[in-house]
Amino acid sequence: MESWDVIILGAGAAGLFCGIEAARRGRRVLVVDHAKAPGEKIRISGGGRCNFTNMYIEPHKFLGENPRFALSALNRYTQWDFIERVDAAGIPWHEKTLGQLFCDSSAKDIIAMLTRELAEAGATLRLGCGVSNVTRSAAGFVVDTTSGPLAAEAVVVATGGKSIPKIGASGIGYHIAEHFGLRIVPTRPALVPLTFEGQLKADMATLSGTSVQATVAAGGTSFDEGLLFTHRGLSGPSILQISSYWTEGAPITVDLAANTPIAEPLKAARQEAGKISIKNALARHLPEKLAVQVVARAQVSGTLADQSNAALDALDAAVHSWDVTPAGTEGYRTAEVTLGGVDTAALDGRTFAARTVPGLHFIGEVVDVTGWLGGYNFQWAWSSGWACGQAC
Ligand code: FDA
Repeated sequence: MESWDVIILGAGAAGLFCGIEAARRGRRVLVVDHAKAPGEKIRISGGGRCNFTNMYIEPHKFLGENPRFALSALNRYTQWDFIERVDAAGIPWHEKTLGQLFCDSSAKDIIAMLTRELAEAGATLRLGCGVSNVTRSAAGFVVDTTSGPLAAEAVVVATGGKSIPKIGASGIGYHIAEHFGLRIVPTRPALVPLTFEGQLKADMATLSGTSVQATVAAGGTSFDEGLLFTHRGLSGPSILQISSYWTEGAPITVDLAANTPIAEPLKAARQEAGKISIKNALARHLPEKLAVQVVARAQVSGTLADQSNAALDALDAAVHSWDVTPAGTEGYRTAEVTLGGVDTAALDGRTFAARTVPGLHFIGEVVDVTGWLGGYNFQWAWSSGWACGQAC
């Protein structure tokens, strides 16, 4: 049977990075993936430009049962280390917003850097090779693949989460963990658009394509970013972010005009522009179609001059604190990441090895660590891949 020091399952961000580091240490490394190309999620990330890290990596921007678990790896291999790597490869980049760093030209630059470094380090990449099972053997592990069984001293599970099955996501990492008796923190789609039903859905559909700068709050957290109305409900960065904190059945609170006062300027305008309809008055502060819906929801009508202070305060509240309850999410079909995963209590935070199964490691998205939108999830992949690569 073909035998390796380390077999890495998954040629995504975490697996490729781990493979480079382990091979640089002189380990004989095989990276396998059932896809035809490596780093498919990197390719489609950041609208094709890969938001590869964030300048403001901070612990509270990572979710999981034990958010502190991520700290060791994030501190040992930082965003500045990865930026140095990108610079050394001559890849041009820029900050888009909120510390989010993107390639100037294409995400393919990052994939090319990783595959080149992997080859230079002496690791082997085998594509079109699906993994179905991992079992213990006297010398380590046997990995069952579509190209036959492979033996390894150490196995690194870097098979990612469940999001976007169309481009290769599978639940195999969770099955392997469970097979070895590791607990899985329940998984659910995150960084995902929210869906609505009934009249709310119909109203949102008529606004499809409209966007505003919003503050969206749920589960004790809020995000001040763009919000986009869609045919199914709500999307945009603020909604994707809050989806990680939202729990089924709970409302979210939306401020449709973050940092824009509504009641005070309308009260002030009553004298000189009192004849205009309240809808047109509000449309000075919100997209017109949205203003129509907000006026209806606040049950105000007539001209601006007709409105009492109380009516304008009610309109202000309808804009700034709209409580709506999503019916669900768009699911793994469009989710950027999977919340939950391999219980971090079962893993060593330095080596990413399972405490009860020496030699079996888990890195990247398959682990119960999920970052905010904005490059945090790739930084987790680089940091956990790097740390494991020093140890596997
Ligand atoms: P990843 O999913 O990348 O890799 C897992 C690999 O395992 C895949 O190549 C898969 O084919 C392989 N595999 C699975 N099952 C297998 C099996 N049975 N046999 C063999 N191989 C198997 N993050 C960010 O920080 N910035 C961004 O800009 C974006 N943008 C973005 C856009 C979109 C559309 C999505 C879906 C996601 C993002 N993300 C992101 C999230 C980011 O892509 C994600 O967190 C990382 O890719 C996770 O890296 P991993 O290596 O852990 O898994």
